[in-house]
Amino acid sequence: MMDRLTVQGGKPLYGTVKVSGSKNATLPLMAAALLAPGTTVINDAPDLQDIRTMGMVLRVLGAEAKLDSGVMTVDTTNANGWEAPYELVRKMRASFYVLGPLIARHGRAKISLPGGCALGPRPVDLHIKALTKLGCRFDLDSGYVLAEADKLIGARINFDISSVGATGNTIMAATAAQGETVIENAACEPEIVDLADMLNAMGAKIVGAGTPKITIEGPTPLHPVNWKVIPDRIEVGTLLIAGAAAGGNITLEGARSDHLSIILTKLIESGAQIDLQGGNIKLSVSDRLRSSDITTAIYPGFPTDLQAPWTALMALAEGTSMITETIYPERFNHVPELIRLGGEMKMKLNSVQVSGVQSLKGATVMCSDIRAGAGLVVGALAAKGTTDILRVYHLDRGYEKIEDKVRALGGTIERMRD
Ligand code: EPZ
Repeated sequence: MMDRLTVQGGKPLYGTVKVSGSKNATLPLMAAALLAPGTTVINDAPDLQDIRTMGMVLRVLGAEAKLDSGVMTVDTTNANGWEAPYELVRKMRASFYVLGPLIARHGRAKISLPGGCALGPRPVDLHIKALTKLGCRFDLDSGYVLAEADKLIGARINFDISSVGATGNTIMAATAAQGETVIENAACEPEIVDLADMLNAMGAKIVGAGTPKITIEGPTPLHPVNWKVIPDRIEVGTLLIAGAAAGGNITLEGARSDHLSIILTKLIESGAQIDLQGGNIKLSVSDRLRSSDITTAIYPGFPTDLQAPWTALMALAEGTSMITETIYPERFNHVPELIRLGGEMKMKLNSVQVSGVQSLKGATVMCSDIRAGAGLVVGALAAKGTTDILRVYHLDRGYEKIEDKVRALGGTIERMRD
């Protein structure tokens, strides 16, 4: 049985909604719990499919993981397993986050190589190269990465490409390495800062997270902690963009505006009004928005995870905009779907040229990944009439109760079971 979302769009959004905890921060935090046998608690963990998948990965490894009203409890006392199977890793590439912790805890890991992905090729070579520098030996057998290390030793690692996942895995492994590890060209994303902050609270010695140079001094004994995950900046960005596309006046509670500088700047540049009050972000839009080009980039640049929502917003903006994707050059599956809603868009290599139209009109469209789906929700809320969004399971991987949130903002959205 597959769910679909039916949206009656074309009317402004008004209301207030509370932001969820960050999916992409919670995933590595759950993996990090493996580093300290005992019970780690992660507060504000979002209730969504990818989090449940990571729970399954941890259970396969012998841990207990349960989510109750936003409180994720991970008991890793008996996490003696070291193998993450294909059935789980193929559902979610972020399962690969257990590599660093397993090497640190058991000196070995067997993890399925993540397969293909709707975003284009997403290799794990950087994870492997970095852990090799720390003394890990790797082998590939029948689609599995086999990793082994007798002793991890601190090293200097300079990433060719800034990678969130590889930086996270390396930090986690390095907490168990003897001596100093220096990561250069490290990812600066807020999710990496949250991971380093939690590890430091567990007893690690990590300096420089949030900058391109991170230093880890190891090994230090780690103990379980009670943590609160950062708010989901991508959810906030998606809802703000939806508010901008549909018009109206919305307030998001419990956000971190400092994680969203580029989005807020771009929204203002396009003609939206933004007011910040403590942890609240208020957006109001009275006139048609103006076009504004974006190029996705590593943090603090424009996040690739908001490229699809932004493309949907630009579909209705006045003028022509260029959307350029530098992180995943093929991440444009939402474009043909937005064209079905009446968008005027032309693909050119890793860019799409969007000519803003006066109005979009509802149609049946299909999600191909989490954020492409988010772009379709934005388009549907702005489009006049009814839009049916199929393959909602992609959205459910990454957005907690999306229809409740949209409804809290006055949107008309219903989940249908076919
Ligand atoms: C994280 O993926 C996010 N996932 C993605 O969000 C996000 O799109 C991406 O970062 C970029 O911001 C999670 O946090 C769970 P990367 P990650 O390693 O860590 C290349 C969502 O919808 N690369 O920073 O896998 C890679 O191909 C998801 O929530 C290598 O070449 O991304 C890409 O071009 C989708 N070799 C670039 O680096 C490697 O070994 C950045 O990827 C690793 C990455």
